[in-house]
Amino acid sequence: MCGIVGYVGKQNASAIILEGLKRLEYRGYDSAGVAVLDKGEIGLAKKTGRVDNLVKEAARHKFKGTTGIGHTRWATHGGVTDANAHPHVSSDGRFALIHNGVIENYDSIKKFLLSKGYTFASETDTEALVNLIAYHYQKETPQPDKSRFLESVRRSLMHVEGTYGIAVLCTDCPSELVSARKASPLVLGVGDGEFIIASDVSALISRTQNVVYLKDGELVHITPKGFTIITQTEEDVSPIVNQVTWKAEDADMGTFAHFMEKEIFEQPAALENTMRGRFSADGSTAQFGGLNITPVEFRQIDRFAFCGCGTAWHACLVTEHLIERFARVPVEVDYASEFRYRNSPLDRNTLFFVVSQSGETIDTLGAMREAKRKGYKVLAINNSVGSSIAREADGGIYQHVGPEIGVASTKAFTSQLMVGAMMALYIARMRDMSYSDGIIYVNALKSAPDLVRRVLQQAPRIKEIAQRYAKVSDMLFLGRLSLFPVALEGALKLKEISYIHAEGYPAAEMKHGPIALISPECPTVFFAPNSEIFNKLVSSIQEIKARHGKVIVITTEGAQLPDGLADDIIYIPECHEAVLPIVATIPVQLLSYYIAVARGCDVDKPRNLAKSVTVE
Ligand code: AGP
Repeated sequence: MCGIVGYVGKQNASAIILEGLKRLEYRGYDSAGVAVLDKGEIGLAKKTGRVDNLVKEAARHKFKGTTGIGHTRWATHGGVTDANAHPHVSSDGRFALIHNGVIENYDSIKKFLLSKGYTFASETDTEALVNLIAYHYQKETPQPDKSRFLESVRRSLMHVEGTYGIAVLCTDCPSELVSARKASPLVLGVGDGEFIIASDVSALISRTQNVVYLKDGELVHITPKGFTIITQTEEDVSPIVNQVTWKAEDADMGTFAHFMEKEIFEQPAALENTMRGRFSADGSTAQFGGLNITPVEFRQIDRFAFCGCGTAWHACLVTEHLIERFARVPVEVDYASEFRYRNSPLDRNTLFFVVSQSGETIDTLGAMREAKRKGYKVLAINNSVGSSIAREADGGIYQHVGPEIGVASTKAFTSQLMVGAMMALYIARMRDMSYSDGIIYVNALKSAPDLVRRVLQQAPRIKEIAQRYAKVSDMLFLGRLSLFPVALEGALKLKEISYIHAEGYPAAEMKHGPIALISPECPTVFFAPNSEIFNKLVSSIQEIKARHGKVIVITTEGAQLPDGLADDIIYIPECHEAVLPIVATIPVQLLSYYIAVARGCDVDKPRNLAKSVTVE
């Protein structure tokens, strides 16, 4: 949902900003723009399409300034045009601004400013804010001990309803930048004689590992000498400088064709990182450092509630299955976007979990705040250290899988499944699971990376299968029990990157409606692992075959499928129930990836999507 970068330092600002924008492009790629202050003037370049278009455009301008801002847009207000691309410049030419978020009351601000003679060149909500800053600047009486620039931004934001991460330049302050946030993420990189403000760490990691995570309602004023942070109510904030643990290479594609491909193949290592240091010394249960809740308190929980969006919601559904199956404690799962407005009743002894890779998804953040408002403790399963969700949660579990850049979530999903499986174990071992069953469970989880490696080795075969199905327009994904959410995830992966219409269903539900879709043109991916319900799964596949549907069966090694039942079979290794959803996910990730590639789709930047959804 838009990526922003700002630079104050001694180097060429444009080059550093463009580099940062490339790293943030996953946040939105409708258009991109850069503004640089040079000799008291704003130099501006904006272009629809990808950052590469902007790079060409910026090259013509040969920007020289060392202070600047840049933006990559995911359109909300106003179509995808050069005029609507950020940065936006105030009609008096004094300010340039980039914005991630939505100014909900932009219309009334705009009407007010029109009455004051300000003019507008775009259809965006953002332009109202940049002109409002110009208006306040005009009104502000200069004071020796106060920055008029900072003060006009602060005053303007007091009139804004909505969400924002902004960075602003002012022609009267040639080496300064003001930035502020409310609900949209911002991180300040503190480098050697330079400062970079950005939507996330990936944009600045190549220049510094020292970062300050800005909190909601904070403004930062950056000058060549340093930076100061204040709150909306003008209180000084003492910054905490954190050290980012990952490196610039982690956010590079390496030898892979796409980030998604890289991240699929990173999963064995990602699972190892998620598990590292999280098993008890006797090897019979899980342990977590940051729950901020004692085992005794944990033991008293009667119910768990889980919320997330998209792929993270699917991870919640698998976790529900595992906790109920192994720990025998009831779990409720809600879409975060529904929970926050549904006013759902929760039992008193409920522990609330939110699951989010980015930690910035506005719906998940909203659900979390709603649960907290109701007095519940909220724990977060999250991959982004310092994210809004991580900071506001009462405790939680970091996934530790490194940056996930591909818009389609892969390694974050299987890592969330791993955390869920470990959580089920932790709760189960506090209740009825025996020591020896705990040992078996832990060993099973530890085997997951190798099992995933074995499935990944089948990539060339899965690619072949994918090429045969690349031209279809519809596909069904069917699974039961813990593999029903994996079927949902398979369908989501396929539709988001290949634009094939796909639906996931519990396999036995097929006959209650979706069976009407079955035809030679609508193939089915069917999860049929060896289990006590294997024969029922086989019967459902027979029903598809009887209607001339094509079936790709994902089954476990050694399973006895009747001859001719499957058009294609992908085998996964036999494994423990807690690991099965992880292992079964890999073939559908690969299948979706190779189908999208075969269709010539832009896998890492699917149309209309953005990695981190920070608007409602
Ligand atoms: C996943 O492939 C999707 N792009 C999307 O559903 C995503 O999982 C969802 O937006 C939630 O994101 P989060 O985990 O960062 O909160």
